[in-house]
Amino acid sequence: MPSTVLVGCQWGDEGKGKITDLIAKKFDYVVRYQGGNNAGHTVIHGDTKLALHLMPSGVMYDDAVPVIGNGVVVDPGVFVKEKALLESEGISVKNLKISCNAHVIMPYHKVLDGAEEKRLGENQIGTTKRGIGPCYQDKAARRGIRVQDLLDEKIFRLKVETALQQKNPLLQKVYGLQTFTVEEICDEYLPYARIMKPYMAETSILLNEALSNGKNVLFEGAQGTMLDIDHGTYPYVTSSSCCAGGACIGSGVGPKAIDRALGICKAYVTRVGGGPFPTELKFPEEGGTGQDALDGELLCDVGHEYGVTTGRKRRCGWFDAVVARYAASVNGLTDIALTKLDVLSAFDTIKVCVAYEYEGERYEHFPQQQSVLFHAKPIYEELPGWKGEDISGCRKYEELPANTRAYVEYLEEVTGVPMSIISVGADRDATIFRSGDWGE
Ligand code: GDP
Ligand code: IMO
Ligand code: MG
Repeated sequence: MPSTVLVGCQWGDEGKGKITDLIAKKFDYVVRYQGGNNAGHTVIHGDTKLALHLMPSGVMYDDAVPVIGNGVVVDPGVFVKEKALLESEGISVKNLKISCNAHVIMPYHKVLDGAEEKRLGENQIGTTKRGIGPCYQDKAARRGIRVQDLLDEKIFRLKVETALQQKNPLLQKVYGLQTFTVEEICDEYLPYARIMKPYMAETSILLNEALSNGKNVLFEGAQGTMLDIDHGTYPYVTSSSCCAGGACIGSGVGPKAIDRALGICKAYVTRVGGGPFPTELKFPEEGGTGQDALDGELLCDVGHEYGVTTGRKRRCGWFDAVVARYAASVNGLTDIALTKLDVLSAFDTIKVCVAYEYEGERYEHFPQQQSVLFHAKPIYEELPGWKGEDISGCRKYEELPANTRAYVEYLEEVTGVPMSIISVGADRDATIFRSGDWGE
């Protein structure tokens, strides 16, 4: 299997965890290249549902080496907790590698994340409050603390001391919050450092050597294209490069290292947090009414659309082909994996947004101006459904009802990308491979 980058094509939670877990065995390395424990990926292990936030979803297989790349921001407490969780499930993390250049999420990052959201009030982004944004801020400001700094207690102390000279006045004077001491941070973080040390590595060198030896790498994106700091619905985004291009920066390989870009699209769309969402079917508590509110509730109920990281109810809406075409373009998608198609068995008819309308103008492409996106009305095509037909047992494309196949083929037509994997249930085996090379 050629080296591949796997990216979310919507606003996250597309089912990336399941697909990564499913195809990871075809790769020698599985690398996370951005984000941190804001991600929530559900993977099924035997009868247990595991929620992974920081570890690559490919950690489940012994053969693939899981790598946390330099572009990831690492909360050491979460690293230690997830390692323990995996080990308690009998999953070894002995092969795991973590980049020495990855930045460390510090206790003040988490406090500042919450404080900044509070300050923004009704304009808040709706972050996961895991300290992601403040950690990336410090990275860009060239005052971050990196994983390698944990290797030397003296250096770490010094870096914390320097950081607190800036953070404590900020916490106290701008946000009216408690300050931190060097001692309390060192007491918490240095024991984590001892646990992390054996896993620290020069991951860029490791990956480049592996690639020159003909090994295959899967770059596992977290979040999604519309949450990308450059290409997403800024400022309602996360603070990293979730798109395919981020894989090079976040793991230290050149662009020629990546042969394929697999986009993950849910058969409908969800979003957590604030920001524009043209096909949203507003819940009654958000002012939604009529059939749209009922359809939104049904998608949420049948799809179990509640956040893995925060437990929040996800906003739900119909498939947005404008967003999907945009994702195909910015990521250079070669294939799409369509997930949660089984959820649509609950509907008589299914809508697909093919373009937007704003002030009498039709937008086939993603609008340049955010204000257009906020007010854009979706233009829908309505397709017949396959209500009541349980497709979760289908394993071959031909076994799907005719209307289901027509829906998939319509999505291929409006996105311009072949849908080579179709997921019809949360389990690994609830999957249809349409092109031979992804399957067994
Ligand atoms: P991720 O963040 O992109 O990895 O996705 P999440 O794990 O946050 O959300 C996807 C949810 O859908 C998880 O609960 C999965 O177990 C579940 N899931 C994944 N694929 C399918 C599918 O094809 N059908 C159904 N019904 N559930 C799925
Ligand atoms: P996975 O990998 C869905 C959203 C948050 C918020 C915005 C910024 O499971 O798809 P942050 O804490 O990153 O600063 O929050 O991004 N967000 C996600 N939404 N899935 C995710 O990850 C997300 N990670 C962050 O809800 O709107
Ligand atoms: Mg998720």
